[in-house]
Amino acid sequence: MTSYKDLGLVNTKEMFAKAVKGGYAIPAYNFNNMEQLQAIIQACVETKSPVILQVSKGARDYANLNLLRNMAKGAGEYAKELGYEIPIVLHLDHGDSFETCKECIDNGFSSVMIDGSHFPYDENVALTKKVVEYAHAHGVTVEGELGVLAGIEDDVVAEHSTYTQPEEVVDFVSKTGVDSLAISIGTSHGANKFKPEQCTRNEDGVLIPPPLRFDILEEIEKELPGFPIVLHGSSSVPQEYVKIINENGGKLKDSVGIPEEQLRKASKSAVCKINIDSDGRLAMTALIRKTMNDNPGEFDPRKYLGPARKALKEMYMHKNINVLGSANQA
Ligand code: G3H
Ligand code: 13P
Ligand code: ZN
Repeated sequence: MTSYKDLGLVNTKEMFAKAVKGGYAIPAYNFNNMEQLQAIIQACVETKSPVILQVSKGARDYANLNLLRNMAKGAGEYAKELGYEIPIVLHLDHGDSFETCKECIDNGFSSVMIDGSHFPYDENVALTKKVVEYAHAHGVTVEGELGVLAGIEDDVVAEHSTYTQPEEVVDFVSKTGVDSLAISIGTSHGANKFKPEQCTRNEDGVLIPPPLRFDILEEIEKELPGFPIVLHGSSSVPQEYVKIINENGGKLKDSVGIPEEQLRKASKSAVCKINIDSDGRLAMTALIRKTMNDNPGEFDPRKYLGPARKALKEMYMHKNINVLGSANQA
């Protein structure tokens, strides 16, 4: 049994309280390897931002839980070495069962998500409550979810999203005791968040998505004043990276994300955690493809992972400063 405190990590309690009060959102960046983690830490130290390091089931399968836990420990030490101590949360993204959540809590995670959103309401309540009881006994915070995002979520592919019903949120939060709530207001996972027929196109043929349902967010805020709200599926899918990928042999079609202004607006509300994974994948893939294409004789992985890491860091800094508003909050 490893406590997150022994790893130099914090839970989300104080972080979220400050974010809701201060009108900004904490970045929750997914990581699977060393370069992604270095880029996240470098960006968050340089912008003096708190950060949530997210580990998905896919990341666990890819990288090993033991290794990831020790990487998070190393991340705190690395931040100090870079010259500034930032609060770091190690969070399980889309926990699919009590057992998965327990295993992560027992392995030093300071926060877990139990994603019961695809279960019937009462089952979601019962499962989430069970996780909260175990987590709170260990000082670990819990994110629950109500409403279903379109796209791939927790290995479940939902054709259509089901928006969170504001009339359910008070009952869910009081019955389960969760510390934060992920909601569905039109975001979705991946780099193709909307079908072309749901969008309009600008003069360059780039898809313009329908706006998020801020009316639902406002109703939820009225029901749960000051309660921490989480947005999943919040990558913006920067078209400059899509272009680099496609100019260098990639075949991404009709990619579309959440416009930055809408995330900026959400960050100023009770939304205090914004999940971003796909944008990191795009930035990294763009620079790897381009560097390999430009230097066909090169075969040292550091020569293409290095530029990818630099692009990632710049992207995370931009998000902290200009989108989430988390810069200078650590
Ligand atoms: O919510 C999904 C995240 O983007 C993680 O995806 O399971 O492929 O690592 P993954
Ligand atoms: P994106 O696919 O939009 O980056 O969302 C990531 C996410 O919600 C992880 O839980
Ligand atoms: Zn998610």
